[in-house]
Amino acid sequence: MTGAVLVTGGAGGIGRAIARRLVTDGYAVVLADRDRAAGEAAAREIGCEFEEIDIASETSVMAGVAAIARRHERLHGAVNCAGIHMQALVVETSLADWDRIQAVNSRGTFLVCREAARLMARQGEGRIVNVVTKLGFGNPFSAAYIASKNAVWGLTQCLAIEMASSGVLVNAIAPGHVGPGTGMEAAFRAKAEKLGKSWEDFEADVVRTIPLGRWCRPEDVASGVSWLMGPETGFVTGELINITGGFQAYAAAPDADAVREAAARGPGA
Ligand SMILES: NC(=O)c1ccc[n+]([C@@H]2O[C@H](COP(=O)([O-])OP(=O)(O)OC[C@H]3O[C@@H](n4cnc5c(N)ncnc54)[C@H](O)[C@@H]3O)[C@@H](O)[C@H]2O)c1
Repeated sequence: MTGAVLVTGGAGGIGRAIARRLVTDGYAVVLADRDRAAGEAAAREIGCEFEEIDIASETSVMAGVAAIARRHERLHGAVNCAGIHMQALVVETSLADWDRIQAVNSRGTFLVCREAARLMARQGEGRIVNVVTKLGFGNPFSAAYIASKNAVWGLTQCLAIEMASSGVLVNAIAPGHVGPGTGMEAAFRAKAEKLGKSWEDFEADVVRTIPLGRWCRPEDVASGVSWLMGPETGFVTGELINITGGFQAYAAAPDADAVREAAARGPGA
């Protein structure tokens, strides 16, 4: 497959890995971010274009996507990876903070989806991938964030149905805990502090809930995006792909390490 692929949040930990992988796959990647300095540096390092886009601004999204359309014959893909987080109980969340999270994560993703979908409908082809998070259960201190990502999942399903007849496929990817080395590490560290845990204990507790026994890596997420962009997934739309090392299957039972040990002992042991 060829064509341009827009990756928002491309200066961040996961977005950068996605951009790098899609360049390797042969796409003309346009790495977008609101952080110009970090975005330009990431694009230079990866060898792709940079476009300054603040997804919270309708004007910025419309101008950014229009500029990409002027430079490229076809927009094959749009990956919505830009996102922000905060750690707070609902009772201590201000309206301004709630709105700030929704303005980027859900409203911003909607704006990019809308502009990309308009272009792709005219082409009769396209792939949209929305990066959400582990969904389907509560997550303390994360209501604003989780609510925003549930909104994106709802948007993904509706858009997938609306765009099916135009040949545009729309899916969501839910990464597991990718903390270390990404911007979200700060959010995990804030959560550890709120729980009164050392970072080492917090990390060990996280890994205990992951059957595959390690944190998710940005490259794991990038592999999923690569698959959804590629020629093998022409019949996949409206899906939520979990890349969580088994966490999603096992979220309610934080004893994955005990299960691994029992399984390693073998039958009847
Ligand atoms: N790291 C994790 O553990 C994890 C887990 C699940 C889901 N996610 C999701 O993956 C995505 C990337 O996370 P990450 O860990 O790489 O975070 P990150 O902070 O490293 O990267 C996010 C990027 O988005 C950019 N950004 C923020 N607001 C923007 C805006 N208004 N317009 C344009 N760009 C903006 C930031 O400048 C940054 O470069 C996010 O959507 C996040 O919710 C992360």
